[in-house]
Amino acid sequence: MSQGIKHYLVRSQERVNRALDDLLPPTQKAERRLVDAMRYSLLDGGKRVRPTLVFAAADALGSQVDETIIERVACSVECIHAYSLIHDDLPAMDDDDLRRGKPTCHIAYDEASAILAGDGLQALAFETLATLPGLQAHTQVRLLQLLAEASGHRGMVAGQAIDLGAVDTQLDLAQLQHMHRLKTGALIRASVLMGAAATESVSEQQLAALSDYAAAIGLAFQVQDDILDVTVDTETLGKPQGADAALNKPTYVSLLGLEGATTKARELHQQALTALESFDSNADTLRQLSAYIIERGH
Ligand code: IPE
Ligand code: IPE
Ligand code: MG
Ligand code: MG
Ligand code: MG
Repeated sequence: MSQGIKHYLVRSQERVNRALDDLLPPTQKAERRLVDAMRYSLLDGGKRVRPTLVFAAADALGSQVDETIIERVACSVECIHAYSLIHDDLPAMDDDDLRRGKPTCHIAYDEASAILAGDGLQALAFETLATLPGLQAHTQVRLLQLLAEASGHRGMVAGQAIDLGAVDTQLDLAQLQHMHRLKTGALIRASVLMGAAATESVSEQQLAALSDYAAAIGLAFQVQDDILDVTVDTETLGKPQGADAALNKPTYVSLLGLEGATTKARELHQQALTALESFDSNADTLRQLSAYIIERGH
């Protein structure tokens, strides 16, 4: 990983961690346990790749965006992501007991609290966008629409449904790609497009290029996640190694082998770079993040 991107990622993690903490203050009221469970899964961990993509997409357009606005947009995406992980780990889904190096939400709390914490984080994501100060109304609606589409039944949730339906079955490559694009790619694509939309100065042409970039890295992200499931130990991963194989899930590795999956990830990185050809050096962070996504070790 280059020093530049390492520094950018650390700074972006600090920014979003502070903003998330502000977003979800502790409470002394009756719902204390719920808010504790939400904070437990939202704060203290995670690579914050999606918020970093929000920041980097805005940077790529070379425009100055209000710090609070872009941080809130980044938080909204991370809230959806954290909720998706809580539900993904539930016994009814992947039934995992470790996430980000600590017990999963339903283990640390209980199943009902974990379901509700996920629900609460999902609502918080949309509330955060709906209460953004200082944006034009049509931009705000666009942000809400992008996040809703990416996380709902035409996006992440659809991908999760296909994933669960595919246990013990054989998907072909096209079906696997479709599943990955939805369950992981959709929210990653939304992160990039929302970062761009928040600048209020993005052309249709730039949006199309960013959409191609985001589609490539979104798929690459899940290909690398599949690779890490078989190549990295549980401690480094912060989640149980071999979880896909244990549940007999179709993955890029199970379908193409480790080498085939690695080649696929590299091809997608190249596609991402090609998509950004018309952008100047302001898009270098996006370029480096694409490399990071397929090189990361956890
Ligand atoms: C894991 O996402 C779940 C997938 C969509 C593959 P991340 O690898 O971004 O998890 P954190 O946020 O860093 O824990
Ligand atoms: C999860 O995919 C994708 C979402 C949470 C939407 P995985 O089930 O592969 O994620 P991990 O490996 O548990 O993080
Ligand atoms: Mg899963
Ligand atoms: Mg899982
Ligand atoms: Mg996985």
